[in-house]
Amino acid sequence: MSVYSLDDYGRMIADRVRMDAYALALKSVVKPDSVVLDIGAATGIHALLACKFGAKKVYAIEPNDAVDLAQEIAQANGFADRIEFIHDFSTDVTLPQQADIIVSDLRGVLPLFSEHIPTILDARQRHLAPGGLLIPQKDTLWAAVVETRVVYNEIIRPWDYPYGLNMNAAKQVMLNRWVHDDTETIRALNLLVKPQVWAILDYASIENPNVSNSPLVLEVTREGTAHGVLIWFDAQLADGVSFSNSPYTKKVAEVYGRGFFPFLEPVSVAQGDSITLQIQADLVDEEYEWQWHTRIVAQSKTTALKAEFKQSTTYD
Ligand SMILES: C[S@@+](CC[C@H](N)C(=O)[O-])C[C@H]1O[C@@H](n2cnc3c(N)ncnc32)[C@H](O)[C@@H]1O
Repeated sequence: MSVYSLDDYGRMIADRVRMDAYALALKSVVKPDSVVLDIGAATGIHALLACKFGAKKVYAIEPNDAVDLAQEIAQANGFADRIEFIHDFSTDVTLPQQADIIVSDLRGVLPLFSEHIPTILDARQRHLAPGGLLIPQKDTLWAAVVETRVVYNEIIRPWDYPYGLNMNAAKQVMLNRWVHDDTETIRALNLLVKPQVWAILDYASIENPNVSNSPLVLEVTREGTAHGVLIWFDAQLADGVSFSNSPYTKKVAEVYGRGFFPFLEPVSVAQGDSITLQIQADLVDEEYEWQWHTRIVAQSKTTALKAEFKQSTTYD
């Protein structure tokens, strides 16, 4: 099932940081004899661009009814004879030939979203010609501990003793979910540590949709209150073509935003404190289950445990 509306597709196209990078990536790799596969074509933007840049043949696969509009749009642009639209999931399709280039954006806020990685694995194995190229090539996921009273309070405020009532059970559930920071409320000045790479998704070689790495050890760079972990990704679409969703970046691809994983309670930290973070994401029934375990240790004269949290989206 595809849940996207035309509004959603419009927002994706309007995100010029994302779209300019995709257009540049396609322009840099499409040749006159290229066969291109657009997975998740929606209203056809990548398929149309591939034609514009000279592709000989484009297959555009999309389960959403938006594909009917894409067909009309291809006609209006004089590309109907070169694009073959297929109203289906790429995993259920057998193509008459393999593609030299496969372009997709099946991410959500983060690239660990639904069947994104299994779909890429299937496409790489069945739809990509030997030596063919994938757009994107690689996504790098970053993690940092942040101070963000605003986003944290949005999560807990409804459950924080309304009318003097203890609604802690609901608050605990909410503190075991991550939220989409789509307004970019959390910026570089909110970071309490130097960000570290949590995972690299190299689509040419990735085999497993689950991600679990050895713990990250982050050193607190300034005094503050730690409210949770911010995760974002940088994308490399083709050689030399990338975009970043980092809080340090002025022009982010807004359509994604960032993921904020709250702590069970805010923790006062001082410069030099050590935060050990173990983050795991497992794909179960088309959805990711997340676990984030945190240990915060003071690095003053007396090393002391300040906090230890084990959180999971499976908590209910
Ligand atoms: C984030 S939208 C991207 C739309 C458009 N390509 C763009 O970049 O603006 C992802 C699209 O992929 C489609 N999709 C998800 N899984 C798919 C699959 N296995 N095969 C084809 N399309 C798929 C969804 O229906 C959705 O329209």
